[in-house]
Amino acid sequence: MHLPTSLLTLTSLLVTHAYAHGLVSSPITRTPGDATAAVCGQTMVDFYLADNTSYPEALLREGGLDENYDPELCNLWLCKGFQFGDNSAKVVEYVAGDEVPIEVFIRIPHLGFANVSIVDTSVNAVVGEPLRVWEDGYADPAEFPNLPEDQVKFSVTVPELGGLCVEPGKCVIQWYWFGAEQTYESCIDFTQPAPDPDAVPNVEARYWTA
Ligand SMILES: *[C@@H]1O[C@H](CO)[C@@H](O)[C@H](O)[C@H]1NC(C)=O
Ligand SMILES: *[C@@H]1O[C@H](CO)[C@@H](O)[C@H](O)[C@H]1NC(C)=O
Repeated sequence: MHLPTSLLTLTSLLVTHAYAHGLVSSPITRTPGDATAAVCGQTMVDFYLADNTSYPEALLREGGLDENYDPELCNLWLCKGFQFGDNSAKVVEYVAGDEVPIEVFIRIPHLGFANVSIVDTSVNAVVGEPLRVWEDGYADPAEFPNLPEDQVKFSVTVPELGGLCVEPGKCVIQWYWFGAEQTYESCIDFTQPAPDPDAVPNVEARYWTA
């Protein structure tokens, strides 16, 4: 049987993609577009547009980087390399104490660990303590498709960030899952207004009058 080359390529792509897959389906997360193509290459963008649940190790294995890939500007392990420039219309504002409901879509499970953290994208550093950590037992195929609700439908509480996340693009809430040597990341762009310098501390809460 002779298959057209393009069909063969497609078939092998589909087969090699079928390992483990997942993403945050809600709230809205970063997706790749022209700004990402400019620093990561159009080949990478097309790869994730074809399957947005794929992962950097597969991208590398399949030769998904072209001459426009700039490792200084495109970090494949921070929001998969997806750039803020494509996502400036999706920024949400959270104040300290906001509960953010998160829904995760796992297409193919693989046992691993996961965490959710606020990341300062300018230095790729986790801010403060992780908001959630699953040290192991995350996305266990033995429980699939009925993964524990705590792993796929949960909420995190946004802390006070002291003015760090005022600028859009600076901070994301990043979901990170590592299973079977595969890395998954989804990023929610958000801002938090700076603390009000004129806010009067609630004196009554600390002293009482007799
Ligand atoms: C991922 O791709 C699917 C299918 O094209 C689409 O319905 C979904 O909205 C995308 N999700 C994200 C988070 O990009
Ligand atoms: C999640 O855990 C991995 C592995 O321990 C760690 O490298 C990473 O910094 C954590 N990521 C976030 C966003 O918390």
